[in-house]
Amino acid sequence: MSAPLTFDGRVVLVTGAGGGLGREYALAFGQRGAAVIVNDLGGDIKGGGRSSAAADQVVEEIRAKGGKAVANYDSVEDGEKLIQTALDTFGRIDIVVNNAGILRDRSFSRTSDVDWDLIQRVHLRGSFLVTRAAWNHMKKQKFGRVIMTSSAAGIYGTGQANYSAAKLGLLGLSNTLAIEGQKYNIHCNTVAPTAGSRLTETVMPPDLVQSLKAEYVAPLVLWLCHEACQENGALFEVGAGWIGKLRWERSLGRIVRQKNRSMTPEDVRDSWSRICDFSDASKPSSIQESLQTLVEVLSRVEEEREIGANPTGASAETNPSVAVGQTLPEMSFSYTHMNCILYALGVGMSTRESDHLRFLYEGHQDFSCLPTFGVIPAQSAMMGLGSVPGLDIDFTRLLHGEQYLEMFRPMPTSGTLTSRAAVADVLDKGSGMVILLDVHTFSGGQPVCYNQFSVFVVGSGGFGGKRASQKSVATAPLPDRAPDAVIVDQTSRDQAALYRLSGDWNPLHIDPSFAAMGGFKSPILHGLCSLGFAARHVLKQYAGNDVSRFKAIKVRFAKPVYPGQSLQTEMWKEANRIHVQCKVKESGDVVLSGAYIDLHSEASVGPGLPQPGGGLQSDLVFAEIERRIRDDGEQLVKKVKAVFGWEISKDGRTVREWTIDLKTGRGSLHRGASEADVTFSVSDEDFMEVVMGKLNPQKAFFAGKLKVRGNVMLSQKLEAVLKDYAKL
Ligand code: NAI
Repeated sequence: MSAPLTFDGRVVLVTGAGGGLGREYALAFGQRGAAVIVNDLGGDIKGGGRSSAAADQVVEEIRAKGGKAVANYDSVEDGEKLIQTALDTFGRIDIVVNNAGILRDRSFSRTSDVDWDLIQRVHLRGSFLVTRAAWNHMKKQKFGRVIMTSSAAGIYGTGQANYSAAKLGLLGLSNTLAIEGQKYNIHCNTVAPTAGSRLTETVMPPDLVQSLKAEYVAPLVLWLCHEACQENGALFEVGAGWIGKLRWERSLGRIVRQKNRSMTPEDVRDSWSRICDFSDASKPSSIQESLQTLVEVLSRVEEEREIGANPTGASAETNPSVAVGQTLPEMSFSYTHMNCILYALGVGMSTRESDHLRFLYEGHQDFSCLPTFGVIPAQSAMMGLGSVPGLDIDFTRLLHGEQYLEMFRPMPTSGTLTSRAAVADVLDKGSGMVILLDVHTFSGGQPVCYNQFSVFVVGSGGFGGKRASQKSVATAPLPDRAPDAVIVDQTSRDQAALYRLSGDWNPLHIDPSFAAMGGFKSPILHGLCSLGFAARHVLKQYAGNDVSRFKAIKVRFAKPVYPGQSLQTEMWKEANRIHVQCKVKESGDVVLSGAYIDLHSEASVGPGLPQPGGGLQSDLVFAEIERRIRDDGEQLVKKVKAVFGWEISKDGRTVREWTIDLKTGRGSLHRGASEADVTFSVSDEDFMEVVMGKLNPQKAFFAGKLKVRGNVMLSQKLEAVLKDYAKL
């Protein structure tokens, strides 16, 4: 058994500690080494009268056992005085247990103003005043534990309206203090106890009052107040030696509003059973989650999508076979040169360096958009994961793990881009779930770039899925030598505040209390901002800032960066691949690992890359096929053993030829015709219709849209390379 929990050096205030539960808490704290302020004004259960006897007696009991204690006889409505007693006697205050309470039971219609006000004053206002008086001391010492005392009467309702209201008010108070206190290591939890006491002897049979001992409640309160306990913002029911934790459950609900139509009470009535149906209910644990649903609903209504489906869309269970291949609604992103410039500033470009001007001044003769701006039109897809059936995602536990970006042409400096996202794979890493999200971005139907977001959802693993995926773009190990080049750049204090204006509004990067909830000491820089820094360092070092040379980037986000820290990009050149490691200079922590950037050599245009200005939609698919062969060519060759030729036409003319060789070596894909076992001729448009599953290949064949020469039977095997493109 591990060491007993002690409170040596801690100073604890227990309000209403002259009897009942408070007395039990005070004795237990005293016995375990804490110095205890035993507060009690010694009144009757309705809040009348005063006496010092109750508090004095408990102080005596603690001292008799060798403990430290002092009495305080003020009402909790004099919150400052209680804390002053702690400071005057013991010099500090570490723990506040808000326990004092009275009852004024009346049926609601007979509840007088006094009955109402007195209950609110003692329970709710008293807890507020005492806790507020302690708060700054706790903040300064970066430690505090606060307990609020609620009641089943408030949680479930009973015949005590005034009391119920105050008791549930305490839960609301606690929920917010938990958030505000987190970053100062002040935790606030709420207990709803049941125990025999003078308060309950008026409502419980005597033998129950005897059996439900206060000593069965105190151990929970002590644990919650211990420095080792990280629980914060929780609610517990406790009594008879049993403890249970409560949380909110919310039905998946139903969207009853439709675009361009007013919402009526009849709509609500007709959906009532669905609104109230708790099957597959969600368990929101933060206001962010709650808002996320509403934002999602707004866009669903706007896009007239699946009206009537549940607002989170996700089933309560993770089911990869349902999730993989799910597509998200097409996203549209319009931007001007201002967005490109704002992004460049966001990733640390400055007019201090003259070669940055081409990214910062739209009048510059080589005005360009940084290639890593390619993540911007695609990034909102990550938020869309919340609506994917088969994924059960807690957004507060979502980490951006890795990123791959491949460019098919330089980013335009303005325009409207459309992006299509699909869940490429879902992996079970035990400690969490990895979702691979592929996003293809087009401009006027032509492919611009491809992103693969790899997101890690902490604690969502263990659903029995596979651990690895061939669809994942892998990171690369660093060469075993000192870096060939190093660039150090200091991020500014406002780097994240600036970067987020490019469209990543996650409060984690700006809101200190939100960052604290995630366990960070202050808001952190966006991982994609560090990626932007590293990419422009490489572009400067090895490509003379020529954006057309940028092919692809892959990074793993290893650790957070705080705005103001310096980023040190270490680079190793191996042919057209620049291996990259990015560190925080001040700490030496690696923040981007396994990273690389692929450049086009000055003259080359590789397979899968469209000629400038002449891009075809099918180029994107062939670039994908190339990647797939690169990753898994050996297996494919074993399975397929054939060479496929493709003739892609546009406006009736063959404009592109491809050869997919899955017969020799590790397989390959190249531009141009070769001797093929089977050759397909198809227009660029029809090719896309087929791979996206909109046109059945047989039908296309019989309609003359798809022509086949050679061994037709081999077309069956094409599936091995084309599989899943319907999910592009
Ligand atoms: P209790 O009556 O034995 O203890 C409450 C103590 O608070 C009394 O000693 C009283 O003198 C003191 N007090 C009242 N007003 C005060 C004020 N203005 N300033 C300082 N001290 C004051 O009652 P019990 O059962 O121990 O209740 C403790 C807390 O637990 C209360 O907040 C009560 O509402 C709550 N509670 C108790 C339940 C139970 O089953 N005993 C059920 C649900 C909640």
